[in-house]
Amino acid sequence: MSTTLDFDIRLNERPLPAADREAVLADPGWGLHFTDHMVTIRYTEGEGWHDARLEPYAPIPMDPASQVFHYAQELFEGLKAYRRPDGSIVTFRPYMNAARMNRSAQRMAMPEIPEQLFVDALEVLVRQDRDWVPTRDGYSLYLRPFMFATTRALGVNQPAKEYLFVVIASPSGNYYSKGVRPVTVWLSQDYTRAAPGGTGEAKFGGNYAASFAGQAEAVEQGCDQVVWLDAIEHRWVEEVGSMNLMFVYGSGADARLLTPALTGTLLPGITRDSMLKLAPDLGIPVEEGKISIEEWQAGCESGELTEVFGCGTAAIISPVGAVKGADRAWTIGDGGTGEVSMRLREELIGIQYGHRPDPYGWVH
Ligand code: COI
Repeated sequence: MSTTLDFDIRLNERPLPAADREAVLADPGWGLHFTDHMVTIRYTEGEGWHDARLEPYAPIPMDPASQVFHYAQELFEGLKAYRRPDGSIVTFRPYMNAARMNRSAQRMAMPEIPEQLFVDALEVLVRQDRDWVPTRDGYSLYLRPFMFATTRALGVNQPAKEYLFVVIASPSGNYYSKGVRPVTVWLSQDYTRAAPGGTGEAKFGGNYAASFAGQAEAVEQGCDQVVWLDAIEHRWVEEVGSMNLMFVYGSGADARLLTPALTGTLLPGITRDSMLKLAPDLGIPVEEGKISIEEWQAGCESGELTEVFGCGTAAIISPVGAVKGADRAWTIGDGGTGEVSMRLREELIGIQYGHRPDPYGWVH
């Protein structure tokens, strides 16, 4: 299989007028507006990937019997393009997204896409729609590659033979409309996100569909986000909302991080991975392990556990201020935004936006 393809370029003859685009970029919200173009690439069993196109952003005509509508063979990725002070545009670790999409594809019996073709697709779109990359610091162009089964068949005895890979782009501001402020989280006992042997480590739309009821329960309980516990004992902490979790013990020069290990039920986050590499270089040792809700509560009550934050591409770092469950509730530190969390956030953003050097070669 060739690693990449020539893209057929079909330009949008009616792009959004510049003044309207600038109005969107001034206050884009999150995931609400889309650029003038998208990339599509088709896959057919036996033929491989073909018909790579840049084309006007538009609805996709679909057969109602397409397998994705019935059996949810779908995957997605998320990453951002950042505008740097010199006007150049970069993405962050895009090959890692490509590799993760391929691991997700293996789990969902979907075709893998050559990593270079995945990255070329991002580049073709960002180059064409470069004026959509916000200039405002902290804003970015969120890129959403996704892939789904288009084969028209209701039989469930085999995966689809045809797929469509698409990349769309959305100018984005803060993921949470209130910006970086500590969230209150709900310990869900009724719902779990992932079970051993399931699809929890794949970036598969169904995992997110299954999370909405838990998230709604969190909101009913007066919380912002749901904390997912393990599916067997309902006591080991896995993720928060759609993010990985990090626990900070101690403070100042003695701070150290603990994050739940990737046991197969957690999403292998790229921000998580970046934290695991960045923190030790800042003198903050990191351990991948296990933490129960009892240990979380006891650590906060003794003062040993000082900060907790969620991390992901969309929100970057989201501090957790307080925890609530059916039979317990506690505050983390003083319930505010912790020093270590904010330092890690600044360091990562600094690398992404070019305010700090990138010794890791993460910027593309
Ligand atoms: C992320 O943190 O980037 C996510 O996965 C959230 C996304 C599904 C909106």
